[in-house]
Formats: sequence, structure tokens, C-alpha cells
Amino acid sequence: MLIALEGVDGAGKTTQTRLLAAALEARGRAAVLTREPTEGPHGRQLRRYLAGRTRHLSPEEELELFTADRRDHVRETIAPALAAGLVVITDRYYYSSAAYQGALGLDPAGIIAINEAFAPRPHLVFILSLSLERALARLREKRQHAPQVSEAPDYLSKVAAVYDTFQGDHLHRVDASGPPEAVHSRILTITLDFLQ
Ligand code: TYD
Repeated sequence: MLIALEGVDGAGKTTQTRLLAAALEARGRAAVLTREPTEGPHGRQLRRYLAGRTRHLSPEEELELFTADRRDHVRETIAPALAAGLVVITDRYYYSSAAYQGALGLDPAGIIAINEAFAPRPHLVFILSLSLERALARLREKRQHAPQVSEAPDYLSKVAAVYDTFQGDHLHRVDASGPPEAVHSRILTITLDFLQ
């Protein structure tokens, strides 16, 4: 089973992926926790780029790099873990490309189509949503590095607007403004329902 957590920077995805993996493990379901950008060569290149001063790549070039990183991710981590019968939980997946590169003017539906040609569709996608003010406040609180070029407020508001347009039975919007335990409980309930 493949589960993706999505949402704007500051929504709490990383905390929630960890809580979900721990809760599944406690119920005897082995889970693999993974994330994008990956630790592979394209992922490392992307992190350096995002931490840089300027967003000098074109939207198409960004999309190409994130897609290359995702191909590595699917081939090296996701597909083997699914084949081994594990639950895979990924912190960001191709909906991030649709939302973030879509917010730069590319067509989100086209981006999803490019990805679904090689990347398995998740059984569940949780889109964590909270107001931009709250997301930015959280980013400021936990900031250990200078803001990434992808964290500019005007840009994140466009990203959130694209996330709002996604539709599908496998997509679940979760209000992420409450305490982490409350958000977790909602995510876990939906996941356990699905597993039964
Ligand atoms: P992020 O989750 O912030 O990683 P970390 O917490 O390790 O810094 O991801 C980095 C940024 O990359 C984030 O702002 C979203 C952006 N991103 C895209 O623009 N497109 C994509 O396809 C992905 C996966 C991420």
C-alpha cells in the first residue's frame, strides 16, 4: 500500500508521516518512511538549488529535475518496498510537482499525467491544509535554515490554491490547524479503514 502526505511547507507533513509510520508499526504493519526530494543525486541537487539565493531554473527545468528524482525514488525505493508487501509512506510525491510547478504556470493535470505514466498512484493521499498565516508562522518557528526559494508567501498561496483543485476518491483533505495528535488521529482512522 502506498500513502502520500502532501501540503504547503509548514503544514506538518514530516511529523505526520512519522506518527503514521509508528502507529502502523505498533499494529504489526511494517512501514517504510520515505520522502522527496530524495537523498539521491537529483534530490541533493534540488535541495542545493532550493537553498540557493535565486530561482534561476525555468519551471520546465524544475519539473524535469523533480521528475528525474521521482524516477529514482520509484525505481530504488517505492517499487521494491511495494513488491515486498510493505506499507510505503512518502513525505511529498507527484502532487507536489503538480502544485509547486503548477503554481509557476505549468498545467497541473499535465504534470499528473506525466507522473502517472511511471509512478504508481497512491492508494491514499492526505493533503494537509491550514491557513497560509499558520503555515508561515510554523515555518518561522522551526526554521533552522534560511528560507528556501520555494517558501515565498505569495508563491505558497498559489501552491495552496492549486492543491485545492485536486480531486479524486483517493484524496483526503485534512485540517492541519489543530494539535498534531488530532491531525494524526484523523489520518490513522482513514488509513485503518482502508486497510480493512
Ligand atoms: P520540503 O518538504 O520542504 O523538504 P525539506 O523539509 O527537507 O526542506 O521540500 C522541498 C521543497 O521542494 C518544498 O518547498 C516543495 C518543493 N517541491 C517542488 O517544488 N516540487 C516537487 O515535485 C517536490 C517533491 C517538492
